[in-house]
Amino acid sequence: MVRPAFGFASLALTASSAGAASNYNMVDVFDSTNFFDEFDFFTQPDPTHGFVQYVDAATAGRDGLAGYAEGGVYLGVDYTNTTTTGRPSVRVTSRKSYTKGLFIADIAHMPAGAGGSGSCGLWPAFWMFGPGWPNSGEVDIIEGVNSQTSNSVTLHTGPGCSVTNPGSLPGTKLLSPDCQGHEGCTQHNLGASNTYGASFNAAGGGVYALEWTDAAIKVWFFPRGSTSPVSSSISSSLPPPDPSTFGTPLAAFVGGPSSCPLARHFANHNLVFNTAFCGDWAGRVWATDETCAALAARCEDFVGANPEAFAQAYWLVNSVGVYQQEE
Ligand SMILES: *[C@@H]1O[C@H](CO)[C@@H](O)[C@H](O)[C@H]1NC(C)=O
Repeated sequence: MVRPAFGFASLALTASSAGAASNYNMVDVFDSTNFFDEFDFFTQPDPTHGFVQYVDAATAGRDGLAGYAEGGVYLGVDYTNTTTTGRPSVRVTSRKSYTKGLFIADIAHMPAGAGGSGSCGLWPAFWMFGPGWPNSGEVDIIEGVNSQTSNSVTLHTGPGCSVTNPGSLPGTKLLSPDCQGHEGCTQHNLGASNTYGASFNAAGGGVYALEWTDAAIKVWFFPRGSTSPVSSSISSSLPPPDPSTFGTPLAAFVGGPSSCPLARHFANHNLVFNTAFCGDWAGRVWATDETCAALAARCEDFVGANPEAFAQAYWLVNSVGVYQQEE
């Protein structure tokens, strides 16, 4: 198993706000005690046509691409071999699926490039989606490609979902209101560099929170070391987090009875962590990314020939907590 040789500080444990109790109850916790019993390895060809070979659990264990490390869950890629057929990597899917709830992910490290090449070729994502894509919806909580320096939060749905974003952080832009299909509706805050990639990692990561109700889907980010209302120790012995104390979200997607009834567009989501290369997003925009285009003519050429560029291309997940309200 991989034992990355670095340390990181835990978030200071902050008591949940005095007084008001959360409406949420803990449903599941995934961490170094159970993660690989609760997530399956996806081994199909990449549906987004990436230059990637998703390996099974046995191969990941043998080659050190996944395992428990540093008190968390390591999900990595091959950074030793050149390849002409796709870089070995890991994509895992939760066995359980959820409709609505509060999802708290404490992440110490996310995939980023090593050295001077930015994160060229990489397409990491922490996301969730339901059956019959895109008709049960998709929520991309953490996602980006290539030289992107802050996080993109995106919804994908079937036809008939147009959202607004009142109450998102100043600086967060809704790039398109229509969430339909591959394009989806993305919110992006260019100034929030600690939310993604090498800057996220340099600060020791942090905690992402997603609240999904019938009214809105909201994403918050609490950098490590911040005084946050979300405890880093996701544990049944602590009071559940209370989103009413979280402050202004990084991105709020607000539906509406006719513009986007969320209950009709989002259901039964499985959680996914993956690290892809090139493909329908990172590969498609390679030539328009000056940093990356300077490295090689094609995304696949760079990713195949430069294993050492991906030594930092791993997730280290401390825990994921799932909370739901009584209906
Ligand atoms: C690298 O290549 C060697 C030789 O083919 C192989 O045994 C090894 O499993 C590969 N490493 C990874 C991490 O895929």
